[in-house]
Amino acid sequence: MKVTIIGAGNVGASCASLLSQKNIVEEVVLLDVRKKFSEGKSLDISQMLSIIESNTHVLGITNDYSKTKNSEIIIITCGIPRTPGMSRDDLMNTNAKIIHSVTKQSLFFSPKAKFIIVSNPLDVMAYVSYITSKIDSSRIIGMAGILDSVRYRYFLSKELNCSPHDIQSMLLGGHGDTMVPLYRYTSISGIPISEFLSKDKNQVIIEKTKKGGEEIVNLLGTSAWMAPSASIVQMVEALLKNSKKILLCSVFLKGEYDLKNVYLGVPVILGKSGVEKIIELKLNKEEKNLLTNSANHIKNMMKKLKLNDINSII
Ligand code: NAI
Ligand code: 2OP
Repeated sequence: MKVTIIGAGNVGASCASLLSQKNIVEEVVLLDVRKKFSEGKSLDISQMLSIIESNTHVLGITNDYSKTKNSEIIIITCGIPRTPGMSRDDLMNTNAKIIHSVTKQSLFFSPKAKFIIVSNPLDVMAYVSYITSKIDSSRIIGMAGILDSVRYRYFLSKELNCSPHDIQSMLLGGHGDTMVPLYRYTSISGIPISEFLSKDKNQVIIEKTKKGGEEIVNLLGTSAWMAPSASIVQMVEALLKNSKKILLCSVFLKGEYDLKNVYLGVPVILGKSGVEKIIELKLNKEEKNLLTNSANHIKNMMKKLKLNDINSII
């Protein structure tokens, strides 16, 4: 079993490291345009694997897609990240061109692969990959909801002095300021969150979650990579092990939640064929309005995509 990661930067290299430590795939291919960079990263990771006794083979390559041939999963983490003062949306047209090109090249050598898209602005990049590939949308999946919800759970656990492992949360919408964490669907070991925290206090945590990525950008000068790569690996495991786990992913909606032609974060069942089911929650009016607002934000960004061949399809 082979998994390819495109982009050997902070997220890509960290993901290669975490995934290969799990010892669940035969080969991880790490590809980047930067000359010799992937080779260096993979050498370092491979030497680490000798210590922790994983048999995964890690291959670093500079832009040679033939080495990615017959990958089961392609993870796209390449492009530019944001720096302080930038929003994820500011990355759109630069990253769209990159995602368009790397999707085409990867699919050529791995026509049956499932794709996990990570590059930002996430929901639009997943859409770019989908319309470029022309494959079934169940095979193009965006990573964001797992990360956003883990930040929400982390901040809640700090507020309530409880274990983040005991918190269940549900978070819909786009990866950005319009994300929609659902108070009604949040619980601690099955006990509704309302027993612990008022809706108003929860709203403070939601606002902090929305700024969770920005907080790290301001501290580090670039965006996060540890929690993002753990989130990617959770998706990879669900796909490879056919676990049917319910995970929050950005997927192409075709009428679910009364929304269509847009990638948006919702709960889905992941299995060996990709997205096996989109779970439709019964939302109240307020929740539905927030989700529609989030979808509209992403659709407005999609309209600003400058790539000619992509624009003509929208
Ligand atoms: P980075 O700058 O550390 O790495 C990006 C890598 O992509 C670089 O090594 C660069 O050489 C490579 N690259 C650029 N063009 C390429 C091409 N055409 N083919 C192959 N490789 C190419 O950036 P980082 O921190 O790894 O972030 C990557 C992307 O992931 C950014 O867009 C960032 O915003 C996004 N991101 C998304 C998250 C999410 O929750 N969906 C979480 C964290 C980051
Ligand atoms: C994050 O939320 C950069 O989107 C990335 O950390």
